[in-house]
Amino acid sequence: MGDGEVLELGSAALAPRSAPRHVALIMDGNGRWAEARGLPRFEGHRRGVEALRKTVRAAIEFGVDYLTVYSFSVENWSRPPEEVRSLLALLHRFIRNDLAELQANNVRVKVIGARADLTTDIAALLREAEEITAENTGLTLVVAFNYGARQEIAAAARSLAEDVAAGLLRPSDIDPAAIASRLDTAGIPDPDLIIRTSGEQRLSNFMLWQAAYAEFLFVPVNWPDFDRAAFEAAIADYAHRDRRFGGLEAVGRKAKTAS
Ligand code: IPE
Ligand code: IPE
Ligand code: MG
Repeated sequence: MGDGEVLELGSAALAPRSAPRHVALIMDGNGRWAEARGLPRFEGHRRGVEALRKTVRAAIEFGVDYLTVYSFSVENWSRPPEEVRSLLALLHRFIRNDLAELQANNVRVKVIGARADLTTDIAALLREAEEITAENTGLTLVVAFNYGARQEIAAAARSLAEDVAAGLLRPSDIDPAAIASRLDTAGIPDPDLIIRTSGEQRLSNFMLWQAAYAEFLFVPVNWPDFDRAAFEAAIADYAHRDRRFGGLEAVGRKAKTAS
């Protein structure tokens, strides 16, 4: 009982605002999922792609506007070469196999992360996924691949510095909006809810800038076991949070005292 019920029964004006517009997922625990079953780590990653597929479908069903998935960090290159190879192969296969379904479901794909150090075939595949789906108007699926938030912020700073050096910008023009406009996520609203699976409670170089006012949820299931029910529970948990953004009143839904 409590204000959760008010939300579920709430007016049309209240209901949409209690749902997160942008959910970001740190899909962690594939290796542990596999190891617990005596399987190779690769099998955990393979099952992780299945969980991702189902999660995208659920995000569409739940009316989420942006779903960001952390699929490979800049630090993940330090893993054994055969594991890196299998992760790249899975990305390849995911785009090859699932692009048609994403397209049919009006999903727009956007990739964030450094492209420069990717092989040309992976870079071309990512570009193709973005181009084919560019005009879609449904869920935006943001794939964070070869992503590192510190690298992203450093690149934004470099780009601003280049403009200052060229006389296009004054140092006093550099404010949070100017920095945000140079990040890979320019034009994408900040995540409302960041979910990390596997029980780890850290960001691991993910969306450090964008997470300033995100709500966090750390769930104790490994990523391959994350499913529609877990996602629904996460969204319900989010709906009970008060977000104050430094002020005194909850923003985005009725304050607890009001119900
Ligand atoms: C997440 O699972 C997938 C990637 C980081 C690419 P992990 O591979 O990190 O699995 P654990 O954390 O070792 O269990
Ligand atoms: C974060 O998970 C990266 C992804 C989920 C792609 P990691 O497994 O790489 O993070 P750490 O090393 O445990 O912090
Ligand atoms: Mg991990």
